Amino acid sequence: MDTKVLYLISYGLYIIGSKKGDEINGQTANTVIQVSSEPPIISVCINKNNLTHEFIKDSGVFTASIVAQDAPLKLIGGFGFKSGREVNKFEGYKYKKGETGAPVVLDHCLGYLEAKVIKSVDVGTHTIFIGELVAAESIKEGEPMTYAYYHLVKRGTTPKTAPSYHKE
Ligand SMILES: Cc1cc2nc3c(=O)[nH]c(=O)nc-3n(C[C@H](O)[C@H](O)[C@H](O)COP(=O)(O)O)c2cc1C
Repeated sequence: MDTKVLYLISYGLYIIGSKKGDEINGQTANTVIQVSSEPPIISVCINKNNLTHEFIKDSGVFTASIVAQDAPLKLIGGFGFKSGREVNKFEGYKYKKGETGAPVVLDHCLGYLEAKVIKSVDVGTHTIFIGELVAAESIKEGEPMTYAYYHLVKRGTTPKTAPSYHKE
């Protein structure tokens, strides 16, 4: 099996926000997709060890802030290589709480989607959270960051916790 063919799948890049009580957290993810349109439903695939996983399981809500192509690597890396167990990843960025109380990043993002979980699918190391949209808002005009652009142009890397991780 030539698993390199998996490199050919296209993705965007997102900051997934969620909450637990009064606490908020967020992480980078490339695995957001729209799964249906009426009603609008999206999904995201999250590693079971991530704090964000714990928060989405607890609150049943998540947001996906859509990262702009000109976003600094620091944003994607800060949310993607550190855990909210150690740092407050939102510090230094403009953000707000959405309708559900889950956070959305306003800096370097083009817009956001906010969803309530309607189903969770256990896929071993990860859970696919499927959520119906409760809000969606545009922040600014621009090109969205793609996973390919992040790797090929920005020379960014991906940690083992991401579902799309490949050994080099
Ligand atoms: C480019 C990129 C894409 C990523 N995609 C995912 C993803 O789709 N799902 C996932 O669970 N983790 C993904 N990650 C890894 C998480 O962002 C990372 O494990 C993070 O530290 C989890 O933080 P938390 O413990 O605060 O939730 C990605 C990281 C990067 C840099």
